[in-house]
Amino acid sequence: MDSNATDRPRRSRGPARALLAGALGVIGAIAAVSLSVPAGAAESTLGAAAAQSGRYFGTAIAANKLSDSTYVSIANREFNMITAENEMKIDATEPNQGQFNFTQADRIYNWAVQNGKRVRGHTLAWHSQQPGWMQALSGSALRQAMINHINGVMSHYKGKIYAWDVVNEAFDDGSGGRRDSNLQRTGNDWIEVAFRTARAADPDAKLCYNDYNIENWTWAKTQGVYNMVRDFKQRGVPIDCVGFQAHFNSGSPYNSNFRTTLQSFAALGVDVQITELDIEGASPQTYAAVVNDCLAVPRCNGITVWGVRDSDSWRSYQNPLLFDGNGNKKSAYNAVLNALNSVGPTTSPSPTPPVSPSPTPPVSPSPGTSPQPGGCSATIRTVNSWPGGFQSEVTVQAGSAALNGWTVSWSWPGGQSITQLWNGTVSGSGSSVTVSNAPYNGTVPAGSSTTFGFTANGSAATPTLTCTRA
Ligand code: XIL
Repeated sequence: MDSNATDRPRRSRGPARALLAGALGVIGAIAAVSLSVPAGAAESTLGAAAAQSGRYFGTAIAANKLSDSTYVSIANREFNMITAENEMKIDATEPNQGQFNFTQADRIYNWAVQNGKRVRGHTLAWHSQQPGWMQALSGSALRQAMINHINGVMSHYKGKIYAWDVVNEAFDDGSGGRRDSNLQRTGNDWIEVAFRTARAADPDAKLCYNDYNIENWTWAKTQGVYNMVRDFKQRGVPIDCVGFQAHFNSGSPYNSNFRTTLQSFAALGVDVQITELDIEGASPQTYAAVVNDCLAVPRCNGITVWGVRDSDSWRSYQNPLLFDGNGNKKSAYNAVLNALNSVGPTTSPSPTPPVSPSPTPPVSPSPGTSPQPGGCSATIRTVNSWPGGFQSEVTVQAGSAALNGWTVSWSWPGGQSITQLWNGTVSGSGSSVTVSNAPYNGTVPAGSSTTFGFTANGSAATPTLTCTRA
């Protein structure tokens, strides 16, 4: 699917922003940001608070707890994205080869959608929680069984899952290389085969790679996964998102460079999601820091905690969650809620909203822009580059009049070619490139801007852009 499908609810900020801008005038941009969420507007649940910036806040659910009324009432009240803690795993959904069983998975799926929540699928290809028959397979028989499993599960939920963890935990903890497993021994291409199979099985689901210990930017495992995602994007292997499990504990503590990690992956052209968050001891400061890291990255779609109460946690002895065993809110809960409620209009997630706040319209075009009669200019910057490829972001700026559709064109100086583009529609041939607005970002108010991005083969370049009004 298009990883930038507009599938996230968004609260309109236009009138409020205009009002603020008018009322605050000389007070300045910093004051405007801090006042952008009036105290009375704070939301009282995690899901609603996250939705203010178009994000979700989810939890893992266990089917056998759906009869626990305290559990169900907290889960229903607070969360708007659901992951089955175990029920969509390989051993649960295909206990015997070729015989699929969705009884428990559907209990969770149905509870979620009946209560207005979306569902993350977890997980399709993994070395762990394999049924015995799969553990016994190897080589081409296992490769084919993996493909059949992906097809069997994804077709059951076709069109119904927000994002699938297609491949889980495929990297080794220390080295930055692949983890040894029966799947890995079928050949290094097993991961891309899984993703290509998944795209064909359900083109509407975002396809994620999910792992733990990839939050710290300096760790070899993080770099190993980053290099794989970069390679996949360069070669057109269908991947839309990376899930960061974020099981933080004394052996694998939170580090503030997590934000750099999220930003760096997002800059490759994938969404990022925090998929299994729990923190040993549940420090409110650490929980808030994780939330703020996600809020700082436009392509961070949302956060899922790995369970409801401490007593529900797979690591209950660490008391790592937001509710205690009696279902009471812990101080970490308040820290998370406050962080979500403090979100400003500059932190909205991808896709780039139709209007991105631009408090100070440029007085003169910067190098690389081409001013247009009626007001339209575009600037390009290189976000990232690597041998043989690069990623760029283009900002489309409206001048004194609003844009109702835009087109940006340029010529590549050295044979570059775009491999993937988001938040726009690309055409052109040879060295000529033309990018028009996506359906959702053609309208740009006077003085505001929007962006699109792409990855390309070749050497990073910043050609002169021409912006044309529709
Ligand atoms: C865990 C579940 O929480 C446990 O109930 C189960 O016994 C083992 O798996 N990474 C993942 C999750 O991707 O699926 C794991 O969930 C936790 C680590």
